[in-house]
Amino acid sequence: MTENLLDPSLAVVILAAGQGTRMKSALPKVLHRIGGRPLVGHVLDTARDLGPAHVVVVVRHERDQVAAAVTGVSDEVVVVDQDEVPGTGRAVEIALDHLTDFEGDVLVLSGDVPLLDADTLTAFVRDHRAGSAAVTLLSAVVEDPAGYGRVVRDDAGRVERVVEQKDATAAEAAIGEVNAGVYLFQAGALRTQIARVDTRNAQGEKYLTDVIALLRADAHEVAASIVADVSSVMGVNDRVQLSEAARVLNARTVRRWQLAGVTVHDPATTWIDVTASLEPDVEILPNTHLLRATTIASGAVIGPDTTLEDCEVGAGAVVRRTDATLAVIGEHTQVGPFAYLRPGTQLAARGKIGTFVETKNSIIGEASKVPHLSYVGDTTIGRGVNLGAGAITANYDDLAKHRTEIGDEVHSGSHNVFVAPVRIGDGAKTGAGAVIRKDVPAGALALSVAPQRNVEGWVENHRPGTAAAEAAARARSAQRADDGAQEEDL
Ligand code: UD1
Ligand code: CA
Repeated sequence: MTENLLDPSLAVVILAAGQGTRMKSALPKVLHRIGGRPLVGHVLDTARDLGPAHVVVVVRHERDQVAAAVTGVSDEVVVVDQDEVPGTGRAVEIALDHLTDFEGDVLVLSGDVPLLDADTLTAFVRDHRAGSAAVTLLSAVVEDPAGYGRVVRDDAGRVERVVEQKDATAAEAAIGEVNAGVYLFQAGALRTQIARVDTRNAQGEKYLTDVIALLRADAHEVAASIVADVSSVMGVNDRVQLSEAARVLNARTVRRWQLAGVTVHDPATTWIDVTASLEPDVEILPNTHLLRATTIASGAVIGPDTTLEDCEVGAGAVVRRTDATLAVIGEHTQVGPFAYLRPGTQLAARGKIGTFVETKNSIIGEASKVPHLSYVGDTTIGRGVNLGAGAITANYDDLAKHRTEIGDEVHSGSHNVFVAPVRIGDGAKTGAGAVIRKDVPAGALALSVAPQRNVEGWVENHRPGTAAAEAAARARSAQRADDGAQEEDL
């Protein structure tokens, strides 16, 4: 993020009142997420990087949800409500009512144009201020202008007006220069002209774009600054564009981490939220998702097929084919393949969580291992512990959750059930198949299984004629022949 000084003669207005009909969603359009953040959150973040004196966000559709998202990012933002008059022009007009004494430049951004970065906008502001235009709009020359307003220029190449797709003639519709929906206005000129905008157009809305023609008619200079990177002004109006914008943002994020020293084997299938952070020499294998506040320390290898949400991964850890949320994975600890770490899992250094192991709300000490087929929930495990295959902590008794506490250097046999609340002392061992219902003192061996009893001949007596009975009969006669031969030898 660029660090900028305060710009006292800049106000930013973010338009976020539209319904977003084309999304066909119960969620307001500007709250749909890319890179782990709502569309309007990206716009707000960029706006704040410019250090404006004022930030005004205009809301209407699902206003409480949008307002909450916006004020959650910054409490310096002023949220204003658009009335029943529709259109981007009306939205700006209402925003201006909250900027009454402001005489600087008004930067208008759209809540659904999320990929503009602060560097592009800083250059845009600089361009505008270097000239004397009453408005500079940001435009882009695109291959497919469908859906955007077209920038109409006169014979001298000067911007004349913007025509919306729905109002365009065939000739206008063929224009490849489109309006990005980003403008820098002199506050006074904007204030005068916005009041004159009407709703006589195909959509019956007050178009902000009409201000361009009105300024020209009033002998003001109007300029357009053509953006170099077309993808940065991409608008999101439907879910196809949403996924495209997500892909562009992700490609940028992945590239940024690659240039910072992270090996990403397959950028196309690696998804990194803008809020995640990685150290140099991390290695990411294909189909990996690093979400929200996930942090990965140097030398860790993540993936393939791994999703980490709000996780902290230590240096040199290896996490393969794993799904983890709100988990801490210690340095040089190995997780997976096929592990499921649920919230509250804290793995210390040099441990191991193996295949088909689920953990939840558990602290597992240094160099301790849960290698195979286990559920560890609401448990504290010391250091140097090995839980045998198939360990289950029975943490729920139908009424409440209880804790299992396992000391240092404990080794459990295969297929144990720890019925919580229960404590296993340091250095203790448990036998295979044990159901541990009582505390085990330090250094004890706990056995809970009844001694084994073999009922001779049971299969031949109770399942005569089966393949098993025949196999048993063959084995017994072979054994008898063997015994006979041995007797002769004696
Ligand atoms: C708008 C521009 C179009 C430009 C395109 C760029 C107008 C009339 N058209 O079209 O020239 O090419 O953006 O992406 O401005 N909004 C409000 N209040 C409203 C209506 C919309 O706040 O009454 C907000 C929306 O939430 C959205 C933004 O303004 O964030 C743009 O509105 P949208 O309806 O998407 O305009 P476009 O048709 O894309
Ligand atoms: Ca739009």
